[in-house]
Amino acid sequence: MCGIIGILYKNKHVATDLVKGLKLLEYRGYDSAGIATISNGNLLVEKDRGRIDELNIKLGFDQMSGYVGIAHTRWATHGAPDKINAHPHTDCDNRIAVVHNGIIDNYNEIKAELIRKGHVFKSLTDTEVIPHLIEDYIKNGYGFREAVLETVSRLEGAYALGIISLYEPEVIVGVKQLSPLVVGVSESGMYIASDINSLSPFTKDVIVLDDGEIVFLSLDGYEILKIANRQKVDKQPMTIEIDTQFADKEGYVHYMLKEIFEQPVVLNYSIRVQEHYLNLMAELLDRSKEIFIIGAGTSYHAALLGSMILSRIARLTAIPVIASEFVAQYGDVVSVDSSVLAISQSGETIDVLKAIEFAKSRAATILGITNTLASTLTRVCRVYIHQHSLPEIGVAATKTFTGQLAVLYRLAMVAGKMRGKLSQREMDEMKIEINKIPSIVKNVLDKVDPVVRELAKKYSKTKYFIFLGRGLNYPIALEGRLKMLEITYIPSLAYPAGESKHGPISLVEEGVPVVFVAPPDETRKFIIGNMEEMKARKATIITIGEADDTELMELSDDYIAMPKMNPLFSPIPYVVPLQLFAYYTAILLGRDPDKPRNLAKSVTVL
Ligand code: G6P
Repeated sequence: MCGIIGILYKNKHVATDLVKGLKLLEYRGYDSAGIATISNGNLLVEKDRGRIDELNIKLGFDQMSGYVGIAHTRWATHGAPDKINAHPHTDCDNRIAVVHNGIIDNYNEIKAELIRKGHVFKSLTDTEVIPHLIEDYIKNGYGFREAVLETVSRLEGAYALGIISLYEPEVIVGVKQLSPLVVGVSESGMYIASDINSLSPFTKDVIVLDDGEIVFLSLDGYEILKIANRQKVDKQPMTIEIDTQFADKEGYVHYMLKEIFEQPVVLNYSIRVQEHYLNLMAELLDRSKEIFIIGAGTSYHAALLGSMILSRIARLTAIPVIASEFVAQYGDVVSVDSSVLAISQSGETIDVLKAIEFAKSRAATILGITNTLASTLTRVCRVYIHQHSLPEIGVAATKTFTGQLAVLYRLAMVAGKMRGKLSQREMDEMKIEINKIPSIVKNVLDKVDPVVRELAKKYSKTKYFIFLGRGLNYPIALEGRLKMLEITYIPSLAYPAGESKHGPISLVEEGVPVVFVAPPDETRKFIIGNMEEMKARKATIITIGEADDTELMELSDDYIAMPKMNPLFSPIPYVVPLQLFAYYTAILLGRDPDKPRNLAKSVTVL
């Protein structure tokens, strides 16, 4: 979490572009923001609690002068989200400014030592030890660059840093350890940033830093060193084409709504990912003794469904695991014969990266599905698949979820064929079916959107929601629940419908809305039983089911009618009404669906 950016220009003030880049990083956290520039020999710092746009008006970020600067958008970890704890942080003499994404694990010990030496701390953050420690080394005779190198050698934890100082006023230092950091190069200047997208308005030429690297940007260019041995690292920029359209809401009120409606288009891309990589991945899966499929949040729901379809279509056993639980749950059995398939739209979720780091240390094969080119995940995988959902800005994942599912279906199909579990004819039939999914989703969006808007009006005042599904649509119930609670803050739970009588049913009383995800597959007849149980206890039944399923309709108080489709692929279209339901409910409650409280899109702290 937290986004950082730094810009150094030859003959232009940097503040306007810092704000532009920072806006593109806001998905990484948005409880406070700040900018530091160097102008006429002074270090200027402006920061406060709040969103970038409002702070820009209040503090005049883009009016700040200076050809060199760093900026930060925060998701608080250490210290409340207030002005004092907002970044950049400075040393006692206000000569060094630092922005940081990550956590310094050993900051307490460093802070105690610095306080003993007389340093005065203003904030409760872990970050503030960094400018003070640099200052301390400088006061002990080190040059600025040496002082930075000594300082970062002492830091433990995860950090991407941007540092400027009056000691070398035309230099920006970037440091990468576990948190992402890229360098951008252009005719007019040099950049560092937490991701490539935020540099897209300025340059396409980027260098992705690896862990343990430090970069010094100056008007002459860049110098990258390995922190451990101070050896130079020779890295040349690569040109990455970025679709800059993502930054525009294209007439939609929120990114989330735009991204929900973008699904028919981008699903077409995800379904058509290159067969070559699917084959490579399927081969590696086929050779493995154990397969684990891991993810966090929405990506875990994709992992859960992925495990079901790998079993159903390819007869492969893949154990779905929440990434942060992976080592504790399965660490002891991971070996050279294991494969770990990581699902992460950002490719930067630290829980996923940590699980992979562990699996790698045990020589397991690492595979990935991600939406972010050049992300850390892509760099640690033996094979990865880029899902091509185009960048997603809304914090709640929507199009990247359905894109992940599309890739997992394709993977299962290729693996099924390779393993002799699918005939050519079955494979061809499945291809025809999956190719229909984008237009089915389009049809759902057209027909269901007005229905769901009305439902949101009816249910937005409920105390809580229950979401139930079975089989392939149990992960969809989980995802519907997650969307609802993360952007509306209405307490919600989701269960496999059959399990609902083992606990959740105690919450049911007159009028409690229970949402059933009920396509006409082999679980339908059991779902009907579960609906009856809920109805007998006076729950209000909302069902997502096939348009002409009169039996389900009669059991339901409200019915979301879905077009006919092959039930095997129903999870993709069936999640769409749930995305819309959460969105419209959030709007009615006055929530900001793009930036729900306390959440961030990319979670880079453990
Ligand atoms: C955060 C986001 C979720 C996302 C999860 C995993 O919790 O708010 O929307 O599903 O991280 O992110 P990843 O980038 O690994 O898919």
